[in-house]
Amino acid sequence: MSQHNPELQPEPHPHPQEAIQPYAPDFVETPDVPTETVDHPSLPLWIYLVCGVALFMAGSSFTGFSTFGMGLMDQGPGGPTVAAVSAGPAAAETPAQVGMKLYNGNCANCHQRSGEGQPGAYPSLVGSDWVLGSKERLTAILLHGIAGPLTDKGVVYSTNVMPEWSSTFTDEKMADILTYIRSSWGNKASEVTAAEVTAARAKFASQSGPYCEADLLKIAPHGPDPADQK
Ligand code: HEC
Repeated sequence: MSQHNPELQPEPHPHPQEAIQPYAPDFVETPDVPTETVDHPSLPLWIYLVCGVALFMAGSSFTGFSTFGMGLMDQGPGGPTVAAVSAGPAAAETPAQVGMKLYNGNCANCHQRSGEGQPGAYPSLVGSDWVLGSKERLTAILLHGIAGPLTDKGVVYSTNVMPEWSSTFTDEKMADILTYIRSSWGNKASEVTAAEVTAARAKFASQSGPYCEADLLKIAPHGPDPADQK
């Protein structure tokens, strides 16, 4: 079919029986054509193999093992996993970017990615005196947690406990989280360094169990951190 004999095509004969004799030799040659169709099945075999391997590799990259690694902890469900993977290790992240991933993976289930918390249950970190004030006091909150009534922007929270994170994060990671929450969602306060967390960890090492609000106000009253005072 695909092999054309030019002499065969131009003159379709309305009465094929007349044409049989002069064109008989050409018709005899047409049995060559099927030998070509026999070749076709051997070509797709290559294609199936190549496509099969490509699909397998593409599939395994989507359901990749990183799902079970730190990616989940750092970014949380729905996080920009693909973008983070393609950014690669060469792209250096700022402390706030590292802090954002740690926050989204560890804090957002209560305080929400927006930082707004949940009314009556989890205080908002947006515009919070506790977040924007003393860095030492804020670090103390993260290191040991809070229990009992806590007032945030005139609302008292008392139904839930803020867990401690001293054993979860290194000083560097804790500093990144604090830098992130102090500089996000409209919050504007100075960064927290790993050295400051190290100092706070030593200073508050004797604290056992979570703080209550009165303890925290003894560490520092409300108001900007000395680093943010002009
Ligand atoms: C299991 C839920 C939960 C998680 C997870 C959690 N918190 Fe909290 N957080 C609370 C609760 C509840 C309070 C208020 C405690 C109280 O009323 O005594 C609080 C209070 C706070 C406060 C002080 C209150 C304010 O308005 O600023 C800060 C700061 C804070 N959390 C930061 C964080 C950070 C950062 C993380 C992640 C490392 C985190 N929290 C993870 C539940 C949580």
